[in-house]
Amino acid sequence: KIIILDFGSQYTQLIARAAREANVYCEIFPYYKQLDVQDANIKGVILSGSPFSVNDDKAPELDILALQQKVPVMGVCYGAQLAAKVYGGRVEKSDKREYGRARLDIVQSDVLFNDVPDQSQVWMSHSDTIKQLPPQFELLAVTESIPVAAFRNTTGANPLYGLQFHPEVYHSTEGKTIIRNFLVKICGCGQDWTPASFVDETVAALKEKIGDKHVIMALSGGVDSTVAATLISRAIGDRLHGIFVDNGVLRKDEFENVLATYDTLGLNVQGIDAKKIFYEELAGESDPEKKRKIIGKLFIDVFHEEALKIKEASFLGQGTIYPDVIESVSVHGPSVTIKSHHNVGGLPDIMNLELVEPLRYLFKDEVRKVGLELGIPKEMILRHPFPGPGLAIRILGDITKEKVKLLQEADYHYIRALKDYGLYDQVWQAGAILLPVKSVGVMGDERTYEYTLALRAVTSVDGMTADWAHLPYDFLAYVSNEIINNVKGINRVVYDISSKPPATIEWE
Ligand code: XMP
Repeated sequence: KIIILDFGSQYTQLIARAAREANVYCEIFPYYKQLDVQDANIKGVILSGSPFSVNDDKAPELDILALQQKVPVMGVCYGAQLAAKVYGGRVEKSDKREYGRARLDIVQSDVLFNDVPDQSQVWMSHSDTIKQLPPQFELLAVTESIPVAAFRNTTGANPLYGLQFHPEVYHSTEGKTIIRNFLVKICGCGQDWTPASFVDETVAALKEKIGDKHVIMALSGGVDSTVAATLISRAIGDRLHGIFVDNGVLRKDEFENVLATYDTLGLNVQGIDAKKIFYEELAGESDPEKKRKIIGKLFIDVFHEEALKIKEASFLGQGTIYPDVIESVSVHGPSVTIKSHHNVGGLPDIMNLELVEPLRYLFKDEVRKVGLELGIPKEMILRHPFPGPGLAIRILGDITKEKVKLLQEADYHYIRALKDYGLYDQVWQAGAILLPVKSVGVMGDERTYEYTLALRAVTSVDGMTADWAHLPYDFLAYVSNEIINNVKGINRVVYDISSKPPATIEWE
């Protein structure tokens, strides 16, 4: 495997994803993590970029010389500057900051640039630059504005490379090839990290870990929990006890449809209809964070009660994925809570269960590939994300059974129309929001006074930032008509054209 040491760059995860795409397994650690360099599985190390300058007083440091004694090393941006500095080169503030597109000119051929044309587009984002390389280093590439865009040092026990640009970002057109060359040609990694090999290895490891014991797990109908449960079920069959709770704020027919899918997948899942108690506890509450807390707590109560009935359980299955657990280097201090925690916490503490998290090292796109490999239906795998508190945070203000029904119907027409128009897969997430606003309309000869519905659709990569989807006017016209004509209680439809930031994806 490959280790990526993070110095706090916003792009670190992209390096990992590029490695995984080359079918090479890698893990991210903060730069100060003590690596077990004796571990023969570690075939190379990549050093990330950083918001720091190597000349800052508090600049993160690393013993690159010791590292290079053990394995090949490649530094990206800050990583490259740090390597140059440690070996006696000179790094200074550039006369001008360099951001964005640049043309890379290769001046010395190297296996790192196999299959890379002599000139290609790269993406820069730095304000320091390497003014002078250490004497034992060789220059590999330049751009118009900087004298050192890539270098190597082959005098040590293992090669050391440095890249001033960011090969991991999309706009570095040959970046993936360069990263693959480093992993495969220089570190000698096999390209055996594939969905099929992951499934085989994971199922074997789960069998070993769980033995003849039992696992309980909460399922949500989402991609992660479904894929995780399917893997566990492959390993232990019906000794997996899944629990799927109807909290009353699921989409229309979701409870029945999802249970039917679990059934075809051969998963042993019990559906619990808890709608009534959720409605009772939510009644009269309008505060978004309080609604989230009520739902989170009730969910744990309901799950706990059911779980206690499964006396033989020793493990708790969870669909945790890699971005949830990467220990990141925080440069700006702890980030502020904008909305309360997205995942339901508190489960692992109950009943002294040991955790089983088969997706703990996967990125979302890898979870999807593994899901397809497992034969999970495409509609399930390519679903939009759906928040844990469900429609409760898409009904602004207090929640009643009637409002839920109204929103379920409207949402159903919206999503169906997106699919009919072939737009569903082009947006990252879509949903309808019921506003606590009534307005006047006219239908036939009658005056109406009914609710307003907002439609939201966004494009995004990870939900952290998002743009509103530029859905075609004819689609918007169609869907507005469909909803107003078919959903009694809504007489006005509006489309949300806010990006995140400054807005968020959900309205609450
Ligand atoms: P925001 O609204 O923060 O949403 O831009 C980003 C992503 O997170 C989802 N989301 C939630 N998911 N519990 C969840 O499980 C929550 O309380 C929650 N709030 C927002 C949202 O649907 C989007 O995908």
